[in-house]
Amino acid sequence: MKFTVAIDGPAAAGKGTLSKRVAEAFGFAHLDTGLLYRATGAKVLEGADPVAAARALAPEDTAREDLRTSQVAQAASRVAAIAEVRAALVQFQRDFARREGGAVLDGRDIGTVICPDAEVKLFVTASDAVRAERRYLELSGKGQDVSREGVLRDLQERDARDSQRDAAPMTAADDAVLIDTSDLSIEDAVAEAVAHIKAKL
Ligand code: DC
Repeated sequence: MKFTVAIDGPAAAGKGTLSKRVAEAFGFAHLDTGLLYRATGAKVLEGADPVAAARALAPEDTAREDLRTSQVAQAASRVAAIAEVRAALVQFQRDFARREGGAVLDGRDIGTVICPDAEVKLFVTASDAVRAERRYLELSGKGQDVSREGVLRDLQERDARDSQRDAAPMTAADDAVLIDTSDLSIEDAVAEAVAHIKAKL
């Protein structure tokens, strides 16, 4: 069975947790596509050429432990604006989406560009304040030296770049279902997503 769930939205809206839980609920494979851009961005911070780094990306590169920092997130957002970088990563994502057994992909352009024919498309948002607080707790909990103001600035800067770029800008697909997680528990958000998927299965 081939079945694709596309989950897009801005940084720290809850896509990651939601995608993991949805994939578990249905036994689908999960791809966090942000890791492809983060791994490329990390290589660029080390001096690599962005397009060459994206073309040479290997699955184990996305398992690096240093990809969840604000510095790498910003580098990811910058390389993600380069059309040739995005082009280098398209086929891997499409192959993943159409694997046997179902797939959940989360990112910024899954429902619009990578999988315009996905069976289910969700666009997950939350207020800036809620997203910044969640990301602040996540990063400070890992021992990173961050401030609430710094995290908020970082998210807003990234969202602006990700939604205003020419190449596959972040935007909800016309047929995406919107889920605002500002006032939802993770259980409620998962239940909403699961209900939409069940209706299409
Ligand atoms: O989801 P994330 O925060 O890990 O993503 C990091 C950056 O990668 C994000 O700011 C923009 C880029 N990205 C993208 O352009 N397209 C995707 N499908 C996923 C991420």
